[in-house]
Amino acid sequence: MEKYVIHGGKVLNGSVTVSGAKNAAVAIIPAVVLCDEPCIIENVPMIRDIEILIKILSEMGAEIEFLDKNTVKLDCTKIHTTSCSYEYTSKMRASYYILGAMLSKYGQADIALPGGCNLGNRPMDLHIKGFEKLGATVEIKGGKIIARAEALKGNNVFLDTVSVGATINIMLAAVKAEGLTVIENAAKEPHIVDVANFLNSMGANVKGAGTDVIRIKGVEKLKATHYSVIPDQIEAGTYMVMAAATGGDVTVKNVIPKHMEPITAKLREMNVGVEINGDAIRIFKKGPLNKANVKTMPYPGFPTDMQPLIVTLLSLANGVSTVIENVWDSRFKYTEELKKMGAKISINGNVAIVEGVEALYGSPVLATDLRAGAAMLVAGLVAEGKTEIMDIYHIDRGYEKVVDKIEALGGTIRRISI
Ligand code: UD1
Repeated sequence: MEKYVIHGGKVLNGSVTVSGAKNAAVAIIPAVVLCDEPCIIENVPMIRDIEILIKILSEMGAEIEFLDKNTVKLDCTKIHTTSCSYEYTSKMRASYYILGAMLSKYGQADIALPGGCNLGNRPMDLHIKGFEKLGATVEIKGGKIIARAEALKGNNVFLDTVSVGATINIMLAAVKAEGLTVIENAAKEPHIVDVANFLNSMGANVKGAGTDVIRIKGVEKLKATHYSVIPDQIEAGTYMVMAAATGGDVTVKNVIPKHMEPITAKLREMNVGVEINGDAIRIFKKGPLNKANVKTMPYPGFPTDMQPLIVTLLSLANGVSTVIENVWDSRFKYTEELKKMGAKISINGNVAIVEGVEALYGSPVLATDLRAGAAMLVAGLVAEGKTEIMDIYHIDRGYEKVVDKIEALGGTIRRISI
């Protein structure tokens, strides 16, 4: 086991380059299964979730070669099974994309019920309803989801809850289905557009991604492509919050500023300096941080994955802020850890009341999930004294080279074995 040890109180300065988007890459890599030729994917973040996906696909017969540290060549034409390793698929939520891709390509798939962050109830009913609408039968038994289809046929699928995973999974299943599939009330996150662009670059016919109606016309064959994953909106947001919390001056490079708007708007409201220059965003101190109210919403609303980070920042602002979590029913567990560091937060259902404090103090804390872990990094960097973060495997799932990036900004962090 390992932990992070942070000596806080340093002001972060300099620049940091954002890696490829985790939530796009975890869908694009399984989507290569659909292709009848090898594909090259660039800007793949080297994080634990990607390593797991690569293990799953290579166990199934895919040939995988790293052309450089973030560029991977995948040849999924030699896949010899539609059954995935229980050990690995149960470890991450996004393994569910293998189901949609395999169902589309081979008419069958079985995977373990997906794991991932524990954010409360994480059902898959919408994914299953979508597959069924396309003509598949889906059953859950022995901890597995088993999907079968003679031939998938396009249909209208209305999602009664906006779901990123269901939107992408149904898109994957529909790519080779006969005729037209229309997904209504689709999610609009940047990674949905990225997955659609990737599918289209292989010859798929997906229109409307980024709006709430996506139309997919089935095609028979998909051809080789060379594709680059978009930058990670949440990793970028994490470094922006780190800069704001420590009162530093940091340029976050390789971002798509449009994707960052819900976050930059909130930071500006809190009196953080935000300057956009092409594909870089400079974050700098303007004065004391102001309170703000935040409601998490599907894109283009404020992202739920930034919620633990903004709560950490609001803990250092003047006044009392209210944060409403509208996406996940149990995403405030980490506030107990922040409270150990001196934060004043009270939770009532899906509402957090955050009373700003003068300072946070170093403490042993847990990374209770991926973004909660990122919030502990921010809190540790700003706190007076030493913070030790345990259960850092959560952070490994989504942050590439986090120690190097923080050290380059002047933070003091070490990863040590325990
Ligand atoms: C994805 C992201 C995750 C982010 C979340 C919301 C990936 C790999 N993960 O998760 O980081 O926090 O989007 O932006 O991209 N729901 C149902 N039935 C379903 C599916 C979802 O009711 O079949 C509900 C969920 O309980 C939740 C809401 O829909 O309340 C949104 O979930 P969803 O967008 O599906 O999240 P994920 O795709 O799992």
